Amino acid sequence: MMKIITNEKETYQLAKELLPAFKKRKIILLYGDLGSGKTTFTQCLGKLLNIKKYIKSPTYNIMKRYLINEDELTNSQLKYLIHIDAYRLNGGGEEFLEYMFDNLTVIEWAGNLEVKFPNAIRIDIEVNDKNQRIFNICSCAH
Ligand SMILES: Nc1ncnc2c1ncn2[C@@H]1O[C@H](COP(=O)(O)OP(=O)(O)OP(=O)(O)O)[C@@H](O)[C@H]1O
Ligand SMILES: [Mg+2]
Repeated sequence: MMKIITNEKETYQLAKELLPAFKKRKIILLYGDLGSGKTTFTQCLGKLLNIKKYIKSPTYNIMKRYLINEDELTNSQLKYLIHIDAYRLNGGGEEFLEYMFDNLTVIEWAGNLEVKFPNAIRIDIEVNDKNQRIFNICSCAH
């Protein structure tokens, strides 16, 4: 599926649309250049999951964990949103798997990791010359 996004409100709408699939698949892999909107998309998911803390890019920590405040998810034992920024990484990624288990995970710069996430949703974000963001969403493996 392809979506053209022209503002952050539309990013939020798209995140809302994808939320049920995210809950099912549990992992979103984000691809796209610097400033394409990966963290912004993650913040929208955070809002939808009622996360109270402000989600910011975890570039220096690489991984951050946010408590999900959604009854439905709490009941189904999906406790945390795991936000990984692999910008500074080159290969690997297995070290994250134990934290991801039973949680929801978003990975920025997923292409820098070597580990495969065959059941994930992949989103490629491209910014075109009109400053539109093109979100390409697919179920394909990493
Ligand atoms: N849909 C959008 N419409 C307009 N501006 C946007 C949109 N999404 C993000 N931006 C703006 O683009 C800038 C960069 O966004 P963001 O930090 O989400 O990018 P990123 O892909 O996470 O970058 P990085 O690779 O550095 O982590 C921010 O100033 C943000 O406000
Ligand atoms: Mg970012």
